[in-house]
Amino acid sequence: MPPSSIVSSLRNAGCVFAEDEAALLTEAAGDGADLDRLVARRAGGEPLEYVLGWAGFRGLRVVVEPGVFVPRQRSGFLVEQALAVLPAGGVVVDLCCGSGALGAAVAAERPDATVHAADLDPSAARCARRNLAGRVYEGDLFAALPPELRGGIDVVVANVPYVPSGAIASMPPEAREHEPSIALDGGADGLDTLRTVAREAPSWLAAGGHLLSETSEQQADGAAAALADAGLAPYVERCEELGATVVAGRAVHDRQDAGHS
Ligand SMILES: C[S@@+](CC[C@H](N)C(=O)[O-])C[C@H]1O[C@@H](n2cnc3c(N)ncnc32)[C@H](O)[C@@H]1O
Repeated sequence: MPPSSIVSSLRNAGCVFAEDEAALLTEAAGDGADLDRLVARRAGGEPLEYVLGWAGFRGLRVVVEPGVFVPRQRSGFLVEQALAVLPAGGVVVDLCCGSGALGAAVAAERPDATVHAADLDPSAARCARRNLAGRVYEGDLFAALPPELRGGIDVVVANVPYVPSGAIASMPPEAREHEPSIALDGGADGLDTLRTVAREAPSWLAAGGHLLSETSEQQADGAAAALADAGLAPYVERCEELGATVVAGRAVHDRQDAGHS
């Protein structure tokens, strides 16, 4: 297929960055027949990252397999916030890791850190193992982790599913038709998984450790309240450029210690 036809096919299918995508698909294809197949998949509505087999995230090419949540650029802000509170030689857990993009970014940017990651979905855990050497576990939230991590984690980064169940139907088709509901659906108000993570976090965090999670602007107050209910000292950080909101909580030992620093 000539380059101009690839761009037209992609544009007709609604791809806004048709030229850029055409170049990436051409680079990824082994030969002409392969390229036709990749373009047909993309024009058929598959996320670009599934077709390419990778997503760009904070300068990394993260392997993303079909059926695994595609890392969003805005989650780079969650990584930034985690790096800001991570002590030298600290222990980080990427909980609900999906492809492991967040943990891989932390590991790349802070080689002194020890990074663990976990996901309930076997496909996600398998994919994360391709992006993070070792220390990837499969299971339900903290229960997946080795027990010896209890009380010793400096930073939990948890990009949990946070879309309210009733809002899934209005998500873009690329997400709702291709990403699994376990990666998106956060229950009636979108905060079910975060509430469970917050409840369990204090016994896993080291003194002064942090739980950080992405949320929507509308959910920020409810998410901060969930962290406060769990005994964490909550705070909210925002990044206008990425359109990202992060809710975080610091593990405190007594009420006097509850101010954010
Ligand atoms: C929004 S995706 C985030 C993935 C990844 N952290 C990222 O930002 O690209 C949420 C992930 O949580 C996982 N998940 C949902 N419920 C879980 C649970 N109870 N325990 C562990 N992982 C869970 C899903 O399989 C999915 O990979």
